[in-house]
Amino acid sequence: PQKQTVKVTFILRDGSRSEVDATVGDNLLDIILEHDVDIDGFGACEGTLACSTCHLIFKQEDYDKLPSKPTDEELDMLDLAFGLEDTSRLGCQVIVTKDLDGMVVTVPQGVADARSGPL
Ligand code: FES
Repeated sequence: PQKQTVKVTFILRDGSRSEVDATVGDNLLDIILEHDVDIDGFGACEGTLACSTCHLIFKQEDYDKLPSKPTDEELDMLDLAFGLEDTSRLGCQVIVTKDLDGMVVTVPQGVADARSGPL
């Protein structure tokens, strides 16, 4: 079957926007890697919940539509993330669904790798 995709826009640190066709069922880390979205230091632990470099900030309306709530492990990791917001999630834990078509995700201005402290 044909892969379903939705539009996801990333607002990068320099304010530029990158719109990609995100495959439904993939997580945002995979999508960022697949589309070569250029975010320094992103996804350092390759989705194993051992860093917080995949931190992304969602609009409230999109955040409310995300298919899963953060686990305790994710929340612990988010606590270490740079620039935490109420609508922060770790990109590697967020699966794209059809409902999320058109969502806009902000890349935080800084990155902190929980394994090595702030960069
Ligand atoms: Fe490290 Fe998501 S890539 S926690």
